[in-house]
Amino acid sequence: MAPIPRPLVAGNWKMNGLRQSSAELARIMRGADQMTGADLMICPPATLLFPFATAARGSKLAIGGQDCHAQPSGAFTGDISAEMLADCGASAVIVGHSERRTSHHESDAEVLAKAQAAWRAKLTAIICLGETKAERQAAKTLDVVGHQLAGSVPDGATAANLVVAYEPVWAIGTGLTPTAADIAEVHGFIRDALVRRFGSEAAMMRVLYGGSVKPANAAEILVIADVNGALVGGASLKAEEFLGIAQVYEQ
Ligand code: PGA
Repeated sequence: MAPIPRPLVAGNWKMNGLRQSSAELARIMRGADQMTGADLMICPPATLLFPFATAARGSKLAIGGQDCHAQPSGAFTGDISAEMLADCGASAVIVGHSERRTSHHESDAEVLAKAQAAWRAKLTAIICLGETKAERQAAKTLDVVGHQLAGSVPDGATAANLVVAYEPVWAIGTGLTPTAADIAEVHGFIRDALVRRFGSEAAMMRVLYGGSVKPANAAEILVIADVNGALVGGASLKAEEFLGIAQVYEQ
């Protein structure tokens, strides 16, 4: 059997979490240290990156950022560079999340530049792709995802520096999920596109599914071909739920 990538279950806390959330992080860390079947990561808000990365040092839990600026430093009020994330102890950063593509009007070109910035700072780039409800209804899902992938994933991707997250916009935070067949179709399509661009290396690149993943549906979603883990929003805020999802890989 061909080798498959080691799964990654990454939690995107979005704009949630205060210093007191370190108790939840500690529970997640304890759970992560017991798990052998997948890598676990939490992407807290920037304000918690340093304390979380410091607390997680020496544990199996990785810490990532949720966005970065393309430039390493400069007059960009309110922005945070990939170098700053790395300096705080992050090992990865999410770029091109649909909430940023929508509310911050980020284009594929900007997402690509952010992924390059991540690599410049030696971070893994978790690049998000996904169609809206209207695009799915118009049968444009593969077009949209293919276009985003071509425009947002830089040349030079490797299995170590790239994670792709397929996140249908209409499934994020809604409790709705695509059918297993629909997820399989998009993940197979993404894998094929990665193989065309990056050759045999692409077999080991992780392609995560994201959008309303919870313990109740994780067992069904995470076994789908070419799904190499999950990007989890709401359910990553509670250790029990987040670990319940990752638990699928322990069986
Ligand atoms: P959700 O978010 O799990 O709350 O749907 C997923 C995401 O936005 O990464």
